[in-house]
Amino acid sequence: MTPTEPIRLAARAAHLPASATAALDARAKQLIADGVDVINLTSGEPAFATVEPAALAAIAAIGEDFTRYTPAAGIPQLRSSVADYLNRHGTTYTADSVVITAGAKQALHYAFTGLLETGDEVLVPAPYWVSYPHMVALVGGVPVEVRPAPGNSLKITPQQVRQAITPRTRVLLLNSPANPSGVVYTRAELTALAAVAAEHDLIIISDEICDHWVYETTFTSVAALGPDIAARTLTVGGMSKTFAMTGWRIGWIAAPAHVSRAMAAIQSHTASAPSSVSQRAAHGALTADLAQELNRRRAALDERRKAVLKALSDVPGVQVDGEAQGAFFVFADVSKTYGLRSSTHTISSAADFAGLLLSEARVAVVPGADFAAPDHVRISYTVPPDRLTEGLRRISNFVSGLAT
Ligand SMILES: Cc1ncc(COP(=O)(O)O)c(C=O)c1O
Repeated sequence: MTPTEPIRLAARAAHLPASATAALDARAKQLIADGVDVINLTSGEPAFATVEPAALAAIAAIGEDFTRYTPAAGIPQLRSSVADYLNRHGTTYTADSVVITAGAKQALHYAFTGLLETGDEVLVPAPYWVSYPHMVALVGGVPVEVRPAPGNSLKITPQQVRQAITPRTRVLLLNSPANPSGVVYTRAELTALAAVAAEHDLIIISDEICDHWVYETTFTSVAALGPDIAARTLTVGGMSKTFAMTGWRIGWIAAPAHVSRAMAAIQSHTASAPSSVSQRAAHGALTADLAQELNRRRAALDERRKAVLKALSDVPGVQVDGEAQGAFFVFADVSKTYGLRSSTHTISSAADFAGLLLSEARVAVVPGADFAAPDHVRISYTVPPDRLTEGLRRISNFVSGLAT
């Protein structure tokens, strides 16, 4: 910025970098638009069509001209269907507990806005989804990274949480299944982490946006661990991942009623409410019998996940960490390729690895620096199987072509 520019940004915006995940995705998309045959394994969304009951409910809503502001907390029938949806996991939410938001992102923003005083600390387990620290900092909070011990589990322990707690700690953020690592915490692990939060009177924000995408293990909702834990937990989720409805922008917060009321009040003064038509679409999806279709989709992603794990197990220097039991990502440590040369450069970071993989092998993956995992890359397996197979072949060829 030059001193003559009349509009000076607030520090919180001036220093806010654009998402690097989005930047790499944009670079890959630009290459594709230029006619380059890129296999894009950066996507953060499952590539399934919107389920028919959602589309039909939206069309009906438009036909009825259901196109006005809705109540700030969302339409009552959707608040109720979200509570029912969540309670399949053992929680005891009512419609009053739920606030409908424009995506889980906005839900998280409201949560941090409503909970944090300036300087309050939020414990963020690393590797973390790229937006968390920025969201905390935007409202004056301080994100505090909690790192897993070296090794390949990528899970944090109660002991590591305890060590990170200070008098300013207010929130423990949990995200299972996790983006970017694909880690899924067991019920026992979550119980132990929640116990630390209770011991230190911390609030838990549990981002459960990928609740459906769990393979070879089971999903646990933190608020289902008991009434005392539910009383200190905000559950965040939405339609984006389970229902592959990212563009409809419907998410939610479920929390004790006084918290939900505050979140709805924040929404009433900011967004008013999410789109009326999208709310009806979400209600259509949540009240239809979609179990078979969702299970079919999960089985399809599981096949692709297994294909990635199998292919990478044969690629020397690329080590999958975190078991990849959830979401739609495999998280791989590529540090063993450091010092090796591609046809043009020597690799010295995961960012180099990802950059060269894109320019030389035409496969896009996301380097982990913004996830606080500078030696890893995130490989999304949501693309169709034939594209995935080709992408894996290119990764394998790229790595085997590296020279010492
Ligand atoms: C862990 C996590 N939480 C929240 C979100 C936001 O989802 P939404 O589309 O509902 O805003 C994402 C999206 O990528 C995510 O990965």
